[in-house]
Amino acid sequence: MPQMITLGQFIIEKQTDFPFAKGGFSRLIRDLAIAAKIVNREVNKAGLVNILGETGDTNIQGEQVKKLDVFANEQFIAALKAGGECCLIVSEENDHVIPINNSEISKDAKYVVCIDPLDGSSNIDVNVSVGTIFAIYRRIHETGFSTEDEALQSGREMVAAGYIIYGSSTMFVYSTGKGVNGFTLDPSIGEFCLSHPQMSIPETGKLYSINEGNYIHFPDGVKKYLKYCQEIDDATNRPYSSRYIGSMVADFHRNLLKGGIFIYPSTYGAENGKLRLIYECNPMAYLIEQAGGKASDGLNRILDLPVTSLHQRSPIFIGSKAMVEQAEGFMAEFSPVTPIV
Ligand code: AHG
Ligand code: MN
Ligand code: MN
Repeated sequence: MPQMITLGQFIIEKQTDFPFAKGGFSRLIRDLAIAAKIVNREVNKAGLVNILGETGDTNIQGEQVKKLDVFANEQFIAALKAGGECCLIVSEENDHVIPINNSEISKDAKYVVCIDPLDGSSNIDVNVSVGTIFAIYRRIHETGFSTEDEALQSGREMVAAGYIIYGSSTMFVYSTGKGVNGFTLDPSIGEFCLSHPQMSIPETGKLYSINEGNYIHFPDGVKKYLKYCQEIDDATNRPYSSRYIGSMVADFHRNLLKGGIFIYPSTYGAENGKLRLIYECNPMAYLIEQAGGKASDGLNRILDLPVTSLHQRSPIFIGSKAMVEQAEGFMAEFSPVTPIV
């Protein structure tokens, strides 16, 4: 049997690949993995215990917060606070930044973490995969209490990103800018083990993922692209198949493995789409580029978009390079106006 490599071993082996490595970054990933295991445990037993249902609170997006979102948020924040490597957190579930470098343990912390603690939360109570998405930045200021400007860095400054998918098996997938590696949780030993080294997305695919219920509200460029996906053409494997889970992490993960495109476009009345730039679009854009794919708002590279506010949204077209470029072609021809960021 080949030697199994755990996430912990892998991080230490790869530490020298990381430009600023002094061990702090390895500990940060370890802290995220600890919280992920705890969240995984709760996701797995969500049908058994009374953790389903809604808290009644409303987050900054105006959506109802489910209990597991709150739980996941608390776990990641607690792990990052205890770990001492993170100075500032941006979370989907918190209106404002959470500076945490005010304790003895984290006064020298160098990393900013932007996180969607539980993605796909509407799928929790129907036993469908959910996830966590994170982006990591170096802090800007040398010293002092962390401030919001450190969270508003361009996607180009990201030093690492990843996601956890709580699915039929649980995986931790991340990149530090040298490819994408995936680790599957072995529940018998409680360790994430390297199962998907150097992941790369096929250049093209035959899956498209979009909430077609919103078709009437889509820009013309998206409508034309969808018609293109549905046309018959043997040479390009069309018509493509439509696959949409409603958890971005799960849709992204499937398309990463099989090839495909995920689109959450602007819609009439929601010009910037639904998904949030800092902790949904940017980290996934970083990962897809590292895997050889592409991410765009339809006209511009996601990672180049100006970051102006914590919870800003962006349309997103992400996946196999050839498919994203094809969709961009339709957007340029039929919907050539850059969404307001
Ligand atoms: P979250 O649960 O973090 O709010 O994210 C939900 C997102 C994303 O995961 C998914 O792709 C999208 O919302 C689905 O939206 P629609 O239901 O509008 O298709
Ligand atoms: Mn989300
Ligand atoms: Mn969420």
